[in-house]
Parts: sequence; C-alpha cells; structure tokens
Amino acid sequence: MPEESRKPVLYSAVQPSGTLTIGNYIGALRNFKLLEQDYDCLFCMADLHALTVRQEPAALRRRTAELAALYIACGLDPKKNIIYAQSHVPMHAELAWILNCFTYMGELSRMTQFKDKAAKHADNINAGLFTYPVLMAADILLYQTDVVPVGADQKQHLEICRDIANRFNSIYGDVFRIPEPYISKSAAARIMSLNDPSSKMSKSGEPDSFISVMDTPDDIRRKLRRAVTDSDGEIRVDAENKPGVTNLITICAAMSNRTPEQVCQDLAGQGYGALKDAAAEAVIATLAPIQAEHKRIMADKAYIADVLKDGAERASAIAFKTLRKVYKKVGLYQG
Ligand code: TYM
Repeated sequence: MPEESRKPVLYSAVQPSGTLTIGNYIGALRNFKLLEQDYDCLFCMADLHALTVRQEPAALRRRTAELAALYIACGLDPKKNIIYAQSHVPMHAELAWILNCFTYMGELSRMTQFKDKAAKHADNINAGLFTYPVLMAADILLYQTDVVPVGADQKQHLEICRDIANRFNSIYGDVFRIPEPYISKSAAARIMSLNDPSSKMSKSGEPDSFISVMDTPDDIRRKLRRAVTDSDGEIRVDAENKPGVTNLITICAAMSNRTPEQVCQDLAGQGYGALKDAAAEAVIATLAPIQAEHKRIMADKAYIADVLKDGAERASAIAFKTLRKVYKKVGLYQG
C-alpha cells in the first residue's frame, strides 16, 4: 500500500471457531464486499481468538482454510485485499501484550461477551477470554485502521479499542489512528436465533437455531419452517412484540436486497408460511453461488496456502512499522 495512494483502511476479522452462520454473513461478510472498493482492506481469520475456547486442533486448521475460501467465495479478491491468519503475523500477540499494560481490569470486567462466554464455559474461564478485547484492539490498531465493519455484538469491543488507543495516544502522541465502527443501523446488524429470537444467532447455538452458510436447501427450508413466530398472524416489523417474525423479515430482506418494508408489502395479506418460504428461497439463492465457489476453492489447497502466505507477508510489513513505533515510544531498547 504506497503511502501517497493510500485509501482509508478497513479491517475486520472472523473467528474460525465453528460453521459460519447467516448472522455472520448478513452482519459482517456481506458488508465487506459492499465496502471493498473504497478502502485498503485486511480480512483476518482470528485463529488466536478462537483458542479462548477449547478447539479440536485438526478442526481449527480446517476451519481456518475454509474461512479463507469463504472470504474469497464471497467475492473478496486476495490480490486487491489482504487475507491472512492472525497467528501468521506475530506482531498481533506482541502488541496485545503492550496494550494489556494500558487496559484496566475494571473495563474488561464490563464486557458482556466475557460475561456470556464465562457463563457458557464455566469450566474454562481462562485469562485469554478475559483479555480477548485487548488482542482485538491490537488487531485493529496495528494497521492504522479507519473503519471496522462488524455486527452489533462487537460494538463494545470497538469502544474499548478506541479507549485504549486514545489512552495510549494521550501519553505518547499520535501513534494510533482511532478506528470507527461500521455497524448497520438496521436489525440486520443482529440476526437472532430461529428458535429463541431473544438471543443472537450464534454458531455455538443449538443446531436448529442457526442457518450455516454451508447448509443444503433442504436444511434451510426445514429450519426456517420451524422458526418461532407468534400467534398474531400479521407480517410486520415490530422487534419488541414480534421478534421472531421481525427476524424472518430481516433475513428475507437482507438476502433479497429489499428493505423490510418492501418484504412486508410484497407479502401483504399472506401468512407466516409464505414469509418462511420467501426467506428460505432468498437464503438459498444467495448462498448457492457462494457454496459452489467455496467448494471449487477448497479443492485447491495449494492456492489457499499461497493466499495465506502472501497475505501474512503483506500484513506483516504494515504491522511491523506500527509495532516498531510503539516499542520505541514505550522505551524498549531498539539498538
Ligand atoms: P465472530 O467470529 O463472533 O463473528 C464474526 C462477525 O459476525 C458478526 N456476527 C453477527 N452479526 C449479525 N448477527 C449475528 N447474529 C451475528 N453473529 C456474529 C460479528 O459481529 C462479527 O462482525 N471478535 C470478533 C472477531 C475479531 C475481530 C477483530 C473483528 C477478532 N479481531 C478485529 C473485527 C476487528 C468475533 O468474535 O467475531
């Protein structure tokens, strides 16, 4: 990225910790492609973050390659963008250590994701889970990032990242660019579980509570037909009183490039069966070309390895500059 032709920098990451859901797709991945041409982009597989929960080693390796293939299958060109694995760029862990020394226990204790995950994995509340947002801040700050497209659940992590960066800058001068979150204003920023629309759709949820981006058309139809609705019978947006129906409208709208209002208009007078069918067909039509492309890319392991090697080299060159500056500022002897 030559300095003079520098576009603003976009950074985002996804954990390769399970099958990706349409929540990940609608809340994050889909926006990557929409924003791509206006930014210099880095898309990361956050494999170090995934270790905060026990992983089966072979599965983690496979999912990391699958996620790289998915980024590319979603239309992200690895020549134009930097696609890489977090663990291939050691500066992430190095900067995270420094930032740990500028982050307070109190602010980390307030993170809702930590509280949720600690409750879910009560037998493994490790220090990595607690300092997870610091590593995430390091990811973002290493690349002098301007914008971070994420789902609504990551808002708090973006806020702490900005707080850490501002704190560091106030002591040492302008070392880090302060990143802005890019979170869709609509309900699409938080896709809810199909069988419990009061909680977010998550890859660690019950099998029928989420649609994986790799699900077959039959699975997609079956899961959506079983989705929780209500007894009111009217197709309209009302997140508070009709969370299940609103979620189905949001999914249908996002996957057919319509607004939720258009979906309601198009289905006016029809029942929830029609809404579920329309949502299923929209999801299937969106995912089919991505799945086909994903399969094609996954068949070429050497290509994926090349993409990741090239991505890590390009990412390292940028990360190294920021880390050197930080080391110098905090007083680490540089020779
Ligand atoms: P992760 O892997 O949990 O999720 C990846 C992205 O998907 C979004 N998302 C959703 N959006 C809408 N509805 C949902 N139900 C839903 N579920 C997930 C997430 O908000 C996220 O954007 N900590 C991050 C990974 C990360 C990161 C970073 C992100 C590590 N370093 C640096 C940005 C910048 C995470 O766990 O995402």
